[in-house]
Amino acid sequence: MCGIVGYIGHRNSIPILIEGLKRLEYRGYDSAGLGIIRENACTVIKQEGKVSQLEDKIEKEKISSPLGIAHTRWATHGVPNEINAHPHVNSSGKLCLVHNGIIENYAVLKIGLQKQGYEFYSETDTEVLVKLIDTFLKMKNNLFDAVRFALNKVEGTYGIAVTSADEPDKIVVAKKGSPLVIGIGDDENFIASDVNALIAHTSQVVYLEDGEIAAVYNNKFEAKTIEDEEIEKEIQQVAFDIEDISKGEFPHFMLKEIMEQPGSVKNSFRGRLLFEEGSSKLGGLQGYEDRISQSRRIIICACGTSWHAALVAEYMIEQFARIPVEVEYASEFRYRNPVLTPEDTCIFISQSGETADTLAAMKEAKRRGALVLGVCNVVGSSIARESEAGVYIHAGPEIGVASTKAFTSQLVVLALITVLIARRRHMSIIDGQNILRELDLIPGKIAEILQQNDKIKEIAQNFINAKNFLYLGRGYNFPVALEGALKLKEISYIHAEGYPAAEMKHGPIALIDNNMPSVFITPKDSVYEKVISNIEEVKARNGKILAIACTSDDKIDSLVDYAIKIPDTMRIFMPLLTVIPLQLLAYHIAVGKGLNVDQPRNLAKSVTVE
Ligand code: F6R
Repeated sequence: MCGIVGYIGHRNSIPILIEGLKRLEYRGYDSAGLGIIRENACTVIKQEGKVSQLEDKIEKEKISSPLGIAHTRWATHGVPNEINAHPHVNSSGKLCLVHNGIIENYAVLKIGLQKQGYEFYSETDTEVLVKLIDTFLKMKNNLFDAVRFALNKVEGTYGIAVTSADEPDKIVVAKKGSPLVIGIGDDENFIASDVNALIAHTSQVVYLEDGEIAAVYNNKFEAKTIEDEEIEKEIQQVAFDIEDISKGEFPHFMLKEIMEQPGSVKNSFRGRLLFEEGSSKLGGLQGYEDRISQSRRIIICACGTSWHAALVAEYMIEQFARIPVEVEYASEFRYRNPVLTPEDTCIFISQSGETADTLAAMKEAKRRGALVLGVCNVVGSSIARESEAGVYIHAGPEIGVASTKAFTSQLVVLALITVLIARRRHMSIIDGQNILRELDLIPGKIAEILQQNDKIKEIAQNFINAKNFLYLGRGYNFPVALEGALKLKEISYIHAEGYPAAEMKHGPIALIDNNMPSVFITPKDSVYEKVISNIEEVKARNGKILAIACTSDDKIDSLVDYAIKIPDTMRIFMPLLTVIPLQLLAYHIAVGKGLNVDQPRNLAKSVTVE
C-alpha cells in the first residue's frame, strides 16, 4: 500500500523515480509526487491521479537532480488530492519525507507540535512526522539522528525516506511494519518499498528490518537500530529479473499472470516431490516436521484470496492428515483472545508477505507460544522473515492487483504440506504417490483450460450488464466459489456472493430471477447429483446458469445456459482447475466493461495498513 522510491548517484533521478513509481503503482494509485534536491533547496511536485499525470506535469518543469525521493499513494488519512499527496515538507521546505504506513499517535503529536507553533497544511499523519523530525533537526543539526529521535516518539507503522537540502549527500530511510529495501548500484544507490522498483538497475539488495534506520549515500550505506545500536546488513541477490515484472505481449498483468499458471504451478512443486517415498521435501520446514505433524490443532490465518486458499487447506489437511484445522481471518484473530498452546501450529498465508493484519496475527501467535509458519510468495518479505519456518510458493512476482497465480501456487504448497504431514501420520505410501503423480499432471490440465480463453471471453460478453452474481460450490469448491465471487467484485465492480451450493435454499434463492446469473462449480464428485438439484431449483426460477463442469459430464450441457469444461482430477486438486475459468470470466467481464483490471478502484496490492 503506497510505494516509495528514491535515488542518489550520478544520474538525473527524475526518470528513475518516475519509472520506479510506475512499477510500484499497483501498491497505490490515487496520487503521486516527488521531491528532489537542487541548488541547496528541495523542489516538490505532486499530482492527484496516476503517475503518468505526474510525469506530464514534471516534463513541463524541465528540472533535474541526482538526488530524489518519490511516492505513489493509497489514501489513509485525508482524501486523495495534491495537498495530501507525498512528499511532505517542513516549514522551510528543506526537509522532505515520503511515508508508507500509519502514524497511530499522530493526533497527540500534532497537538504538541501546534503548541510549539507548527502549522499544518494537510490532513495527513505524514506531515506530522516530518514536522516532528524538524523539531529534532533543530536540536541535533544532523538528519540521521533527528529521524532516529523522532521515530522513537512514534507509534504505528512506517517505511520512510527523508532528505534534507542541508545534507544533500544522503537519503535517510527507516522501517517498521512497512517494507523498505536498499538497492546497491555502482556509484549510485536506490531505495524502494519493493524490489520491483529497482530491479531494472540492480539485483543486489539490502532489506531493512523493523526498527532499523540507514543513511544511504551514492557509494555506501550505514545502518543502525533506532536505539542507536550498530548493525551489519547482508547484501542479497534478487532471484528474478525485469522480464518477470513486464507485461510482455499481454494487455494486462492479470491476463499474463493467469496465463502463466501452468509454469508458476510447476515452479511451486519443482524439486519438492519425493515420488519414491510418496512424500514432499520442503526445505523451509526441515527440523519442524515432527512438531507440525504432532500438532494438536492447525490454525490457518490470512486475508482475501489467501484466506480462500486457507479454506481449501482445511479440507486437504482434515481429509488426509486428520488434524483439526481452523481457518481465521487474520484481522479477527489478532484482536480476539485466541486459545493457543505450544502444541498448536499456526500457518500464515500471504502473497505479499506484508499484509498488516496477517503480520500482526503472526506476532500474536508467536507471543502465545504456537509454532508459527509462513507461506509467502515475496522472498524476504516481513511475514517470511518473522516466521519460525515456512515455504515460499515461488509463483514469481504478481503485479495485477487481483491475485491469480499466487492462489494456485498457494494451493500447491498447501497440498505439499498436507502430504508431508499425512505421510508421517496415516497416509499410505501408495496414496502419497498417487497424489504426487496427479499433481505432476496439473500444469498440463491448467494449460488445457487456458486454451478455452476465447470461448470464456465470448461467454463473458453475456454478463457485462449483470448487477449481481451468485457463485456456488461444495466441499473443496466452496472456497473456489468465494474466490470466483471476489475476483468478479474486485475488478468488475459487480456485486457477487459465494455460497456453499446447499445453502442457497436457506436464503439466497430469494434473489434468483432472470437478471441474476449463477455460476455453479459442479465437478463429478460425491455431491454432484445434489448440486444438479440446486441447478434445477435455479432453472425453475428463470435464473441464467453458467456451469464449470468436467469434460466427462455430457449431461450438464442440456441443463445450463453455458458450460465451461475442465479435465478430471482428484478432489484435492479440483480447486486448481475450477478457479481458472473463474479468473478468466472475471477478467473478460471487467475488460468488456472497459475497466482497468490491473488497478481496480479503491484497491491496492499490498495492504500494509489495518
Ligand atoms: C484478492 C487480493 C486480496 C489479497 C489480500 C491478502 O485478489 O489480492 O484479497 O489476497 O489482500 O494479500 P496477501 O496474500 O498479500 O496477504
